[in-house]
Amino acid sequence: MNESLQRKIENITGSIHKVKVLDEQGWTSEVSRISTEDGSFLLKSSYKEKYREWLREEARVLQKLNKNPVIPVPDYFGLIEEKDSDHLIMSFEEGMSLTAALNKATSLTEKKSLIRSFGRFLQQFHEQEQLECLKCDGDWLEGQLSVAQNYVENGQTGAELSLLNHLRAKKPAPVKQTMIHGDCTIDNVLVIDGEVRLFIDVAGMTVGDPRYDESLAIRKFFNNPEYLTVFYEGYTRYRVTNEEFKFFDEGLYEFF
Ligand SMILES: Nc1ncnc2c1ncn2[C@@H]1O[C@H](COP(=O)(O)OP(=O)(O)OP(=O)(O)O)[C@@H](O)[C@H]1O
Ligand SMILES: [Mg+2]
Repeated sequence: MNESLQRKIENITGSIHKVKVLDEQGWTSEVSRISTEDGSFLLKSSYKEKYREWLREEARVLQKLNKNPVIPVPDYFGLIEEKDSDHLIMSFEEGMSLTAALNKATSLTEKKSLIRSFGRFLQQFHEQEQLECLKCDGDWLEGQLSVAQNYVENGQTGAELSLLNHLRAKKPAPVKQTMIHGDCTIDNVLVIDGEVRLFIDVAGMTVGDPRYDESLAIRKFFNNPEYLTVFYEGYTRYRVTNEEFKFFDEGLYEFF
């Protein structure tokens, strides 16, 4: 890290004792743990324009939620915008992604208990009263299709225009909108003390179609009936149809 960036970070965190690049990295950013006298912070840095935009959006969401402790997310500390990169500083949360926790679990019972708790966690979130600060204008799904179109036109996605046209023709009938995470994979929730307790990677958090969260939540075990059963013991409010799952997981998600 260059000196000028370090100084800007220290303005927020206080004097840095140690920086450790995390073993578990995401796809779109670089994450490090920063230790200072005051505690631990998570530094998330992005370099590509598309991902920098997501990081700035994540900062906006975290900042809004700082004043609303009803949704479990990391605390926001600051965003540093450089010429070629952006850097988000949030609280470091002790825990591991659900992906890591499932890999580490030694018994089927433990894995099932983790997945059930994920279902419960998402159920609670989708049933919660919508926060005013997360509401957005217009229809969420239409908005996502427009963003996807933009990505296609600017060469920022591997997915094709033909898929987008297919999705436009096959839009599922609308359901009641809820607060959504917007990228609700098992990589983007943290397990603390054996339970899913926290959302991370929250750039897409807004009010939208809960079937998107549900589809991404189950995508890694969609073909495992035992895991699906325990997920739906926790998530009882709705069960996506095969068509809805395909629309969201093999369709819309391809553009992001
Ligand atoms: N606040 C936090 N506290 C502790 N660890 C965190 C925190 N935020 C992220 N992490 C760790 O960093 C990893 C990557 O974080 P994150 O999902 O935000 O990155 P990403 O690059 O956006 O991921 P994606 O692959 O979804 O694009 C997580 O799996 C988790 O292990
Ligand atoms: Mg992630």
